[in-house]
Amino acid sequence: MASNELIARLDEASASLRERLASRTPRIGLILGSGLGPLAEAIEGAVCIPFGEVPHMKTSTATSHVGRFVAGDLAGAPVIAMQGRLHGYEGNSAQEVAFPVWLMERLGVEVLITTNAAGAINEDYRVGDLCIMSDHINFTGRNPVAGTEPDGVAFRFFSMFEAYDPQLRAIAHRVAERYAIPVQEGVYLGLLGPSFETPAEIRAFRLWGADTVAMSVVEEVIAARHVGMRVLGVSLVTNMACGVGGASPDDEEVLEVAARREGDFRAFIEGIVAAIALD
Ligand code: HPA
Repeated sequence: MASNELIARLDEASASLRERLASRTPRIGLILGSGLGPLAEAIEGAVCIPFGEVPHMKTSTATSHVGRFVAGDLAGAPVIAMQGRLHGYEGNSAQEVAFPVWLMERLGVEVLITTNAAGAINEDYRVGDLCIMSDHINFTGRNPVAGTEPDGVAFRFFSMFEAYDPQLRAIAHRVAERYAIPVQEGVYLGLLGPSFETPAEIRAFRLWGADTVAMSVVEEVIAARHVGMRVLGVSLVTNMACGVGGASPDDEEVLEVAARREGDFRAFIEGIVAAIALD
């Protein structure tokens, strides 16, 4: 899509959302991945806006992804959460996946916390672990900024050095320590899906330095860095990746583990939001 068309769509969508949000200006944006949507229930004074009611937004078709924005206060801080996300495997283009991230930035969001369920490639990880992303490998074969006009939404070329903000990662570690929640930190590899990976792919990804794998996040993070948002990425390890210890992932297991770890996940994210708000 040409940038002028993309910009017009973002203008229309952000004007519509701003009207629904009235005087609220969210500073922190949250993307709640598979099975992690219940965190949105903790948002106080919530205004809920289904994706389908936002001009030019795609709707979510993935299991357990409600598909709406929830804006309000979380741990005393003004936030806007996506309860569910858009994936490439649903047939969305990279720009359609990135659209709500660019939209949140236009509403005033400076920090993006993106979360997902992921498989562990690293054999030292355990199902149920929370993992802070230190970096990513984009193996979707796509990039949301490709095809936009040079310097349209923002400059075409931008660095992905320290894309996952070191200060936010340090805050996340401090919060984990305070609540005695065990966390890992590692490299996340994102791909298109929807097939899970083969054991041969997982072995190759391990050689590349990947610790976790899933079908989201990387396009959102590229979009966020494109417009200068600070990013924190958090995965919940819902399964060992295909072939690791004989594992063969399935969607039900992912949702089951997410439900089981809801309490720690909520405490962790709320603690991080509170700490960022005070920072
Ligand atoms: N692979 C890809 N996506 C996933 C996985 C996985 O093992 N677990 C949760 N999402």
